[in-house]
Amino acid sequence: MSVKILAIESSCDDTSAAVFNDSKLLSNVIASQKVHESYGGVVPELASRAHQSNILPVVHEALKQAGVRKEELNAIAYTRGPGLMGSLMVGTSFAKGLSISLGIPLIDVNHLQGHIMAHFIEREGEEAHIPPFPFLCLLVSGGNSQIVKVKSFNDLEIMGQTIDDAAGEAFDKCAKVMGLPYPGGPVIDRLAKEGNPKAFTFCKPQIQGFDYSFSGLKTSFLYTLRDEVKKDADFIEKRKNDLCASLQNTVIEILMDKLRKAVKATGIKHVAVAGGVSANSALRNAFAEHAEKYGWDIYIPKFSYTTDNAAMIGIVGYHKFLDGEFSDIDLPPYSRVII
Ligand code: KG4
Repeated sequence: MSVKILAIESSCDDTSAAVFNDSKLLSNVIASQKVHESYGGVVPELASRAHQSNILPVVHEALKQAGVRKEELNAIAYTRGPGLMGSLMVGTSFAKGLSISLGIPLIDVNHLQGHIMAHFIEREGEEAHIPPFPFLCLLVSGGNSQIVKVKSFNDLEIMGQTIDDAAGEAFDKCAKVMGLPYPGGPVIDRLAKEGNPKAFTFCKPQIQGFDYSFSGLKTSFLYTLRDEVKKDADFIEKRKNDLCASLQNTVIEILMDKLRKAVKATGIKHVAVAGGVSANSALRNAFAEHAEKYGWDIYIPKFSYTTDNAAMIGIVGYHKFLDGEFSDIDLPPYSRVII
């Protein structure tokens, strides 16, 4: 008998539901929230309210597209954390309610593990480029920047992580001071294509081990703008492309320096990237260059699975189902990182 799993993701500002038949993805529906754009960042209370209006139609649509009736489901996987508490509460409560009413088990999934395991998502008739265990994964999103050693589906070791801002957060905050819309990462990526990555030099952190730091870069970027705008009020407008290209180049150098160090320390040359920032075109190019220069086998997820989605929660849920790892109904969500 095949296993049918409904997965729910609501950790930040995307409401998503996916349906799996065994390891094969049948549907993956995402409702993004536009309400935050005018605020320059995600407003937690508005996110939570939007999840409440979106969750039912999104789940209905995912079941409809999959051609699966809710009575056919064998389990419900949901994002337990990390994320915004008010957002997580909506997905968690919905998953719990549905599991009780259908009398099927619940599976709690770590959002970050989901991002990493997005590499294993396959639709029927589709073959993903799947990394073999163990592999290293650079996990870069709006809330996290980590180097993770992935030994198996359920055995992950964080080798290093940011001690302050995440890479995506650095992009978003620097974009905001340039007056660019939220989220800034994709806009910087686009403008950087027309700019010179060596036009400006920003500060790079000197941190031991495999940890990251992006707050110094953010401050250095801010001070450059402040000093230059004093001399020329139109400085940002005139040099926007160069600023974006130089900032992006510095973020990527910081990320890749530590990743090379981790590859050297572990001897693991299967290297993956995951999370929203993995959509960045220059980061993808840097991975391709490293594959060529250092003989890495690289794994880059499909664009559609880089940002928050329920398919990545479902694939982890399926493997937890096979291992019999179910969750208690009274398990609370968590906002901070735990792998
Ligand atoms: O993984 P994600 O969708 O949400 C979190 O779990 O955080 O990542 C969102 C982050 C945002 O900071 C956004 O600016 C960044 O990913 N991002 C990008 C690009 N696309 C999304 N950053 C740089 N270049 C991009 N093309």
